[in-house]
Amino acid sequence: MCGIVGYIGEEQAYPILIKGLHRLEYRGYDSAGVSLINAKGELLVYKAKGKVSALEASVEGKDVSGTIGIAHTRWATHGEPNETNAHPHYSQSKNLTLVHNGIIENYKALRAELEKNNMTFCSETDTEVLVQLVEYMMNSHHCDLYTAVQLALKNVVGAYAIAILEKSHPDQLVCARKGSPLIIGVGKSATGRKEFFLGSDATPIIEHTKDVIYLNDEEIAIMDRTGRLEITNLANVKQTPQLVKLQMNLDELEKGGYAHFMLKEIWEQPNALRTCIRGRLNMADKDVLLSGIIDHKDKFINCKRIIICACGTSWHSALIGKYFIEEACQIPVEVEYASEFRYRNPVIHSDDVVIAVSQSGETADTLAAIQLAKEKGAFLYGICNVIGSSIARATHSGTYLHVGPEIGVASTKAFTGQVITLALLGLAIAKEKKTLSDDMFHMLVEELQMIPDKMQWTLEHNKGIDEYAKTFTYCKNFLYLGRGYNYPVAMEGALKLKEISYIHAEGYPAAEMKHGPIALVDEEMPVVVIAPKRGNYDKVVSNIQEIKSRKGKIISVVTEGDTVVKGMSDYYFTIPDTRDCYVPLLAVIPLQLLSYYVAIAKGCNVDQPRNLAKSVTVE
Ligand code: M6R
Repeated sequence: MCGIVGYIGEEQAYPILIKGLHRLEYRGYDSAGVSLINAKGELLVYKAKGKVSALEASVEGKDVSGTIGIAHTRWATHGEPNETNAHPHYSQSKNLTLVHNGIIENYKALRAELEKNNMTFCSETDTEVLVQLVEYMMNSHHCDLYTAVQLALKNVVGAYAIAILEKSHPDQLVCARKGSPLIIGVGKSATGRKEFFLGSDATPIIEHTKDVIYLNDEEIAIMDRTGRLEITNLANVKQTPQLVKLQMNLDELEKGGYAHFMLKEIWEQPNALRTCIRGRLNMADKDVLLSGIIDHKDKFINCKRIIICACGTSWHSALIGKYFIEEACQIPVEVEYASEFRYRNPVIHSDDVVIAVSQSGETADTLAAIQLAKEKGAFLYGICNVIGSSIARATHSGTYLHVGPEIGVASTKAFTGQVITLALLGLAIAKEKKTLSDDMFHMLVEELQMIPDKMQWTLEHNKGIDEYAKTFTYCKNFLYLGRGYNYPVAMEGALKLKEISYIHAEGYPAAEMKHGPIALVDEEMPVVVIAPKRGNYDKVVSNIQEIKSRKGKIISVVTEGDTVVKGMSDYYFTIPDTRDCYVPLLAVIPLQLLSYYVAIAKGCNVDQPRNLAKSVTVE
């Protein structure tokens, strides 16, 4: 949640910070703020409720000069979204300003302690407690900012990524992290002097430099204008910065002619999945090569159980992964909501494999779940999209999705990337365990290779939905039904609609409908049924009959050439035929398009839905 950007160098900081905030806005957009030190040595702060554009409008005509600055876009946790609670926060003497991402869990106790020491507060935030605590440490220990940050953070319980400016030292920038990501970009200004960028992810840094350092938990960094960068941990032990090259291109962060990132990312799926499977499917031998398991084959061959931890959309893809791995590898798989798993003292054995599925690789609950599993001795495998993310670094091995940055808050290409990666993993394990016949294995590999083309077909053949979607503007509820592999797709379709169009929707196993949800069905109720001509087709047809006899509106996803379900539907989407286990990769596409166009028809902000943010780095 929240986005941090920072700069120290020879350039004017404000344009760099504002551009960075726009790139980070997908992480939170309740308020935005910037702090700069100008040439007169003044420590300036500007804040505005709402989007970054509101901040830009509010600073018009004001002094935004300075070659050092920090900025923030907020997703509110403590304190409502308003200007007072927006970051950056001043310390009491106004010598410091601080921006923060994360949650300080013991902020109430810290605040009470500071108030006893005559420190006063303007906001309701945990962040202001942090900046006051740092100032208190500076004053009470007569130390410099860096030492004060070390001392302050030793008293803090919770997660943080912070950046701090000090008025009396306008040539240095201090930052620290624990549990919330922070990246330092190392660039060169026009005169050849080193300059530093800060970002809560790589998106605000990439257009300035590809050389970055991922700060580790409990590390504090100081950067200054001479090009000095020093990193220590909370125990004051010096750390050696590891410079790595970013693997990302700027055009991946642009809308590229699409109206929204979400639409771009939906249409990108065929190519994104081609990249995901490239080098991992060897069509000459009809084989699967997954480097993440090569050195850890025994863990997968000998494990008694696989547990997959995830949240939201990633939890849905994990469920599809469970069906696939159980069928192909004959290993029991449990899929857990990471937020539940981490707090219920689960039974984990040292011969369990625990897989974390996460687009961002930063979801706080998923990270905590695998940390728990690590303590209990399990082997950890990460399936993430963001390279160098916390989950990717906390796991023993893993596979990146390589579907490119996903900016739209509603996950689309990451979902299909996760499903196909879990299929690759299942095939790779099945090969080692010899749980599939050669014929079946080769056939599944061949079919998987064809999925990107079939996705393209699906996109090309379901274009009319923009008009039909207008019919649903006034709907209050939707029901989504699917069986087997398509039950998680029904849940994913419902989640997509909920999050971007604010229409209540539920995804259900089709057969469960008669145990409750059917009571909701009337002529007002659209029911989306995933009904490919595969698996339990006849049973799904019966479910459709049941809905029709209660006058429900049927929107179906059918296999090309099917006339029966088409004939029973008020509207239908067509997908090409494929194996049961791969249907989710195609069936989800029309559901993504449906939710997108319903949200557009309702005038909703598709890329930045209310109350949501892209990566949930708080509990
Ligand atoms: O980054 P992650 O995959 O760990 O994120 C998990 C969920 O927060 C995420 O999938 C969320 O449900 C999306 N907004 C769904 O579109």
